[in-house]
Amino acid sequence: MAILQILEFPNANLRKKAAPVTVFNERLSILIDNMLETMYEAKGIGLAATQVNVHKRLLVLDVSEERDIPQIFVNPTFEIIKSDLSEYDEGCLSVPGFYETVSRPEGIRVKAQNKAGENFELEADGILSTCIQHEIDHLNGKLFVDYLSALKRKRIREKLEKEQKQSA
Ligand code: NI
Repeated sequence: MAILQILEFPNANLRKKAAPVTVFNERLSILIDNMLETMYEAKGIGLAATQVNVHKRLLVLDVSEERDIPQIFVNPTFEIIKSDLSEYDEGCLSVPGFYETVSRPEGIRVKAQNKAGENFELEADGILSTCIQHEIDHLNGKLFVDYLSALKRKRIREKLEKEQKQSA
């Protein structure tokens, strides 16, 4: 397995819209394993393929306390089943060091495929719902900072650009 490099805001590739996964093979399986390892190593609860510069509709997450329940969603879509908004202080491995409150619909029904290409469905609320919506946003080129004010987003961008320049 391998640790993949995570793109950071405002990298333009984070704005690419991911294409459906059509081939379920060993290569996909290796990518999934590498994404899980990368997510755990970075202490994140979710990672979308877009964030590792692979523009396929695929995400991994683990919202469990013990960090031992990996979940894999290939070609995920969702519908809102409870539209009351719930607020979370969201962070993102592509926006390191920043946490901001974002409101999203509380309950969703997700349809996706597993790594073998088999269809499954689940209902999610709470942190799982928030996390899935956040990760599906990534596949559409959207980041949680897009929900913030333009001023806040600009401050975050400038701070990260400065850090990126210093570490380059
Ligand atoms: Ni994120």
